[in-house]
Amino acid sequence: KLQSWCAVLLSVAAVQAGATDLNNLRIGMDATYPPFESLNPAGQIVGFEADLAMALCKEMKAHCTLINQDWDGIIPGLVAKKYDVIMSSMTITADRAKAVTFSERYFRTPQRLIAAKGSTLKFTAEGMKGKRVGVQRGTTADMYLSKFWGARGMDVVRYEDQDKAYADLVNGRLDASFQDELQVEAGFLKSEPGKSFAFVGPSINGDNAAEREVLGSGAGMAVRKEDKELVTRLNKAIAAVRANGSFKKLSTQYFGR
Ligand code: ARG
Repeated sequence: KLQSWCAVLLSVAAVQAGATDLNNLRIGMDATYPPFESLNPAGQIVGFEADLAMALCKEMKAHCTLINQDWDGIIPGLVAKKYDVIMSSMTITADRAKAVTFSERYFRTPQRLIAAKGSTLKFTAEGMKGKRVGVQRGTTADMYLSKFWGARGMDVVRYEDQDKAYADLVNGRLDASFQDELQVEAGFLKSEPGKSFAFVGPSINGDNAAEREVLGSGAGMAVRKEDKELVTRLNKAIAAVRANGSFKKLSTQYFGR
């Protein structure tokens, strides 16, 4: 008798403590990152990851809501249960994995420097000395440049979102900006102001283990540490959308491949 009462009380406590409802998932994303996630004129979150989230939720038979969240607070917001999943082109890194659990990777992109077309900038220690390079604060781009290029004299300028880095690049306050190559290629370079910019130097995947650790291993979804069942479901759903062609369809629609 006492035992069953305890069980009831524990389950009530679990619901009140907000045990993750796997049938109603809230998905957090920093919607300043076209074509992955951005706001349309009506204020809705749209893009590759918005569509992919819906395809995954359909597989999981879950009802999903997309929630816009600044990148700066995106991991704290997950931990504080503002949402249950982060899906925001977030690169899987050992450092982040201390705070969250990642799903399997669902895409991968190197990092890349861009500058005005015709710029003579060289992505070398000599060439980058004193150059102002914009990054989104707290991204792998920020961590990589801060750790490996700051000491060589690069001036790393941090912005709270990627749009603001591009804005300063366009108005000439930066010599270059550095970020996920796929976002540049499918987003910024396709925008009107982006037409006057081009890649400088090679795709950056990391030259050694220390660099690769910071650059991570492709994008995954992140959930709270305790949500083991949710990660299993997300991984199954990723496999399912790959198998049924819906992943390919979205990738072709947004990236042409
Ligand atoms: N892939 C990079 C990282 O994980 C940048 C992601 C930025 N995403 C965004 N929605 N602003 O650090």
